[in-house]
Amino acid sequence: MLKTFTGPALLTAAAPLLAAALLPASLAAQSAMAHFDASSKVFRLDAANTTYAFGINSRGELQQVYWGGRLGASDTPPTPTPRREWASFDSTYTNTPQEYGGWGAGLFNEPALKVTFADGNRDLVLHYQSHTETPSGLDVVLKDISRNVLVTLHYFIDEHTGILGRSATIENRESAPITIEQAAAATLVLPAGNYTLNYLTGRWAGEFTLNQEPIRHGARVLESRRGTTGHQANPWFAIQSAASDEDHGEVWFGALAWSGSWRTTIEQDQLDAVRVTSGYNPFDFGYVLHPNEKLETPVLYAGYSAHGLGGASRLLHAFELRNVLPRTQKTASSPTPRPRPVIYNSWEATEFHVSEAGQIALAEKAAALGIDRFVMDDGWFGQRKTDNAGLGDWYVNQEKFPHGLKPLIDRVHALGMDFGLWVEPEMVNPDSDLYRKHPDWVLNFPGRPRTEQRQQLVLNLARPDVRDYVLGFLDKLLNENDIAFLKWDYNRNWAEPGWDQLPAAEQKKVYVAFIQNLYSILAELRKRHPNVEIESCSGGGGRVDLGILRYTDEVWPSDNTDPFDRLTIQDGFTYAYTPQIMMAWVTDSPHWLNKRTTSLAYRMLSSMQGSLGIGANIDKWTPDDAALAKRLIAAYHEVQPTIVQGDLYRLISPRNGSEFSATQTVNAAKSQSVVFAFIHSTQEGRGFPLLKLKGLDPDAQYALTPIEGKAAADSPTTASGAFWMNHGLALHDDFRGDFQAAAFRLDRK
Ligand code: DGJ
Repeated sequence: MLKTFTGPALLTAAAPLLAAALLPASLAAQSAMAHFDASSKVFRLDAANTTYAFGINSRGELQQVYWGGRLGASDTPPTPTPRREWASFDSTYTNTPQEYGGWGAGLFNEPALKVTFADGNRDLVLHYQSHTETPSGLDVVLKDISRNVLVTLHYFIDEHTGILGRSATIENRESAPITIEQAAAATLVLPAGNYTLNYLTGRWAGEFTLNQEPIRHGARVLESRRGTTGHQANPWFAIQSAASDEDHGEVWFGALAWSGSWRTTIEQDQLDAVRVTSGYNPFDFGYVLHPNEKLETPVLYAGYSAHGLGGASRLLHAFELRNVLPRTQKTASSPTPRPRPVIYNSWEATEFHVSEAGQIALAEKAAALGIDRFVMDDGWFGQRKTDNAGLGDWYVNQEKFPHGLKPLIDRVHALGMDFGLWVEPEMVNPDSDLYRKHPDWVLNFPGRPRTEQRQQLVLNLARPDVRDYVLGFLDKLLNENDIAFLKWDYNRNWAEPGWDQLPAAEQKKVYVAFIQNLYSILAELRKRHPNVEIESCSGGGGRVDLGILRYTDEVWPSDNTDPFDRLTIQDGFTYAYTPQIMMAWVTDSPHWLNKRTTSLAYRMLSSMQGSLGIGANIDKWTPDDAALAKRLIAAYHEVQPTIVQGDLYRLISPRNGSEFSATQTVNAAKSQSVVFAFIHSTQEGRGFPLLKLKGLDPDAQYALTPIEGKAAADSPTTASGAFWMNHGLALHDDFRGDFQAAAFRLDRK
């Protein structure tokens, strides 16, 4: 029997009820196919170009049997059959590709779930018990062979992209507590083969570096132990088959929707199969589940592309746009969120030295450039003169804004822009009224030093009183001021993660409860202020993941705004995340970080690859600078939906010291395309390579219009999609030198 099911399972992770309020209406109409074949005992999920299949083997275990390109409707996936022992040194339980393996029965590879029972038993062997169809897909219930521990595996498949959502709910129906030491969203298995692993790592000001390496025997662990997503690794992976590249071949990819400590383990087992297990980081984990309590894991989203890494990221971008990112009330019915307003942000211009007159002066200049949103950054509250003081005291600094924020906000509105404000809600400086009043509110181990980073401590958001305080002051701020946007910052990681209000055995719950409360605050704020938009910033890209992106409209990928460095950061970013959320500011030259000097046109085009902002000290701009920026902002506005929501093709990567880089985006109707080309430094007189475009309609005619720079003197101005894709776009012979940039649009005639 083939069944159609509808709706989202993507919100079954932490805080599901609050999250459900944010569902895009478009999800209600989604459908995909779920099928259980009672004779072979195989569950099959089919959508777009993907089939995922698993079944109940003769021992009652849930076993994965297939994940890849879509199978024919009448095809029968392999019958789940337990793998045999290779030798006496291992177990059939280990060799069998468990769909969600409990640690027990001699499981030697990464378990999905590991628990300790009150009597010291640590053996957990999960067998199929039942399944139900849900509005969003399938729930399959597993139970331990003797104990009353139930695990419900949730499955969702997206009809547009074939992306699967997987998570688990663990329930204790024993009469005594159990401690969960490890809990994954899912395990995914690929058959024996040669694969390449792609993953993103970095550091502050150097996020989203793409790493590519062969998968070898043993385990590669990607993780954060920092209480947050982290700059150092991002919870995304892509596994390529041997014959795959940017445009061709098979790729299996995934992204964990969690903003706390996380871990993804990619292991090639002794029989060469590859298993990916992703979920809560088991390091320092210990979640006590009392009788009748449940723990939900985050969701792992996983997809398959037959069109290389480029195809994988296009699927993920489309999925994020349609299924993950929130909508405001105004855009609730549109299938994708609106493109981001072009912003001005004052941080690099003024740092903490904000004032009513200074911000108004900047706002006037920004409005004249065609900016949509004016954002005041750090420094407006409490005794915030440097980063030594003030976090926690979310009242307007009277010296800097004697009449409150209203005069500034009114002026910004009168100039035709909306207003955004910086906050860092989860933090406190020891030098603050809040800390003086509530020193017990921070993460700490009593009697131990409290490690400061940037002179700040982390409020324990897991505490209900802290959660209420944070929600309360943000709600008040939004009630009392006409604020359209919050830049939500988070500028340190955890140390001493104690929660001393709970019994010692329960304190490790902080890893889950903190993030659940963060999500619930964001959800509640969005409910109470349905048109307010939010950016996730963490000293740049320290908190970018599909968990926070259910509640935030955009992210700040890096504090590094050097336009050349940004090309590589942005390239890496797009493997996992859509350009829609990739905020990119044009800042001053020479750049504060690298001392590199670049032209304004180069800086503008680098930022125009994503969601454009201006973060320079525009007080110092010449009339020529302002005129150029104004022209390019207007040109950007015209093609922005194609750039940020179109299909992205990374034509030439800036990685590995490349002299050149180029990207192209094509809108869904194939009626418009935008091309960016950058030169790092031409060597030995080499000209820019012919850019063979992609994704166009070969039979349509496209007119080429420069946004900045020139095509070759003999390039046609109008030609077929076939011409631009097969012959290619030739750039002008003068396009040479250091840090050069050009951009073009193609419009179907
Ligand atoms: C870190 C952010 O990434 C910056 O953009 C800026 O907002 C500072 N924090 C302000 O303290």
